Amino acid sequence: MKLPKITIIEENDKTLRKVSKEVTFPLSKEDQQMINDMLLYLKMSQIEEEREKYDLRAGMGLSAVQLGVLKRIFVIVEELDDGSFKNYVVINPHIKSFSEELIYVGEGEGCLSINRETEGIVPRHARLTVLAYDIEGNPYTIRVREDIAIAFQHEIDHLNGILFIDHIDPKNPYKNINQMREI
Ligand code: CO
Repeated sequence: MKLPKITIIEENDKTLRKVSKEVTFPLSKEDQQMINDMLLYLKMSQIEEEREKYDLRAGMGLSAVQLGVLKRIFVIVEELDDGSFKNYVVINPHIKSFSEELIYVGEGEGCLSINRETEGIVPRHARLTVLAYDIEGNPYTIRVREDIAIAFQHEIDHLNGILFIDHIDPKNPYKNINQMREI
């Protein structure tokens, strides 16, 4: 596989703090190419051989803003139990409903734009129903749970200029841990 030429901007770049804009359809060729590049990049980052070859960090999700493009687009790549990969292309997402139950990643969340150790946990809804558009502009409703629900919330935050570290109180990085379920 050939690694797509994308540059992921880092934490200190103020673009990450901007609110991305809704996208209109049809998408430009450039935006379609960007989406395919993001999907391939994430997939390769999850394949050990490619990850080592290109010195990548493993990532599950990526938003257009992380490439410096302020459009409400994100992708998630999920490795399934059979070793295949499931792609999510999420454009102009709106959260329709979410569970009361909160969960968190026990080892802490990660982000391809944050290249340092972080401490603390991020409360996330365990389940989420999202209305969004696919790459062709067709609306769809998706119900996600557990790690995919966390990834959706992490990426939707990116579209609003929010990073996962913003949810962590540095004085109390494990706040309310007993009121949430670890995944
Ligand atoms: Co991120």
